[in-house]
Amino acid sequence: MKFIVQGGLEKSGLNGTIRVPGDKSISHRSIMFASLAEGVSNITGFLEGEDSLNTLRAFQAMGVHVDGPVDGKVSIKGVGMNGLQAPAHPLDLGNSGTSMRLLSGLLAGQAFDVELKGDESLSKRPMKRVTNPLSEMGAKVETAEGGKPPLKIHGNQKLTGIHYTMPMASAQVKSCCLLAGLYAQGKTCVTEPAVTRDHTERMLSAFGCEVEVGDSTVCLNGPAKLIATDIDVPGDISSAAFFMVGASIADDADITLEHIGINPTRTGVINILKLMGADITTSNQQEVGGEPVADIRIKSAQLKGIHIPEGLVPLAIDEFPVLFVAAACAEGQTVVSGAEELRVKESDRIQVMADGLQALGVNAKSTDDGMIIQGGEIGSGIVHSHDDHRIAMAFAMAGLCANGEIHIEDCDNVNTSFPDFAGLAASCGLSIQVIND
Ligand code: S3P
Repeated sequence: MKFIVQGGLEKSGLNGTIRVPGDKSISHRSIMFASLAEGVSNITGFLEGEDSLNTLRAFQAMGVHVDGPVDGKVSIKGVGMNGLQAPAHPLDLGNSGTSMRLLSGLLAGQAFDVELKGDESLSKRPMKRVTNPLSEMGAKVETAEGGKPPLKIHGNQKLTGIHYTMPMASAQVKSCCLLAGLYAQGKTCVTEPAVTRDHTERMLSAFGCEVEVGDSTVCLNGPAKLIATDIDVPGDISSAAFFMVGASIADDADITLEHIGINPTRTGVINILKLMGADITTSNQQEVGGEPVADIRIKSAQLKGIHIPEGLVPLAIDEFPVLFVAAACAEGQTVVSGAEELRVKESDRIQVMADGLQALGVNAKSTDDGMIIQGGEIGSGIVHSHDDHRIAMAFAMAGLCANGEIHIEDCDNVNTSFPDFAGLAASCGLSIQVIND
């Protein structure tokens, strides 16, 4: 699938009031915890994208009965902490790093062996970051060469709680350790070098598991059990981010995004855009299932280049592809540093974005841990998203401040996190054409 977006229009805009699909991180965790809980959990707002569906299929393959998803509603009869069954085949997690890293922790504590595999992109991603702490806990997990998937997890190991200090700021690694900790004897603690998303901690508490949250350390005691609860998944701020940037860089935009998760460990994109001069306001703030939610309104604004504070990087880690587009449309220079984690996402997001922006005539220079972008005009051209959903959607939004047509190749994986992105964007005013090739 490819996208063609039309820039150079007399007036570009994004307008209306919309909802984006459910939060991917929260959707994954809702399936995992509901499956292991005692009782029935009803989930609403579930993201019916390929990544979270792969998590759902994995639990079905391990004997969990799932009703749905239908219109974002899923009902799960939990099997209890020790009720999963050995799957007949390796679990194929497609493009989803979150599924693989969280499941590796959760499955390290089971009584059966299981193999986790993924697509070409996932098969290149580093897994030692999870197998290292897991083996310290007593788990037996083999990787392919170079610490890459597939992962072979050997069951029936006695896990013991550890205190793990993460070498990188990763919510996936933190969550992996905590989920293994549910099955370990004693206390498992994880210390993070910078704040990362805390959905695991919040949702484990909602499922009745006591989690001690300190400044940079989180602990739980194993073995633990979970009690079913209902989950309302808010709109994904990472999906909303495309519209926040799109509306900011368009000439004539005023858009409201309803019911978006604004967990403070995820709102880096709002803070960064505000520092760049964006016009963003929130209203209707409320709390649903332990997660803060609000409506977010964005109007066109002249953005200016900034040096993005490194402390905000982990809080906006998935939003950098589209923030690079914002920087390309801003006045002056934007510097991103301390973002080396971007090199090991679904693609090398530093290289792939720098290549794409250069193909569109933008002065963008990659560095080891970020990028330096001179803002100005975006031209026309052909860019490759390297099967990375967020790269494809970021370049689609670039159409709102480009002076010509942009062709974006390899867009199939947009379905991993944002089904019908093109339809929703078109309904708000983006001139986007989808070519199924
Ligand atoms: C996620 C954590 C982040 C993020 C990913 C989802 C999660 O990864 O990039 O899309 O749901 O825990 P890291 O924790 O590896 O940075």
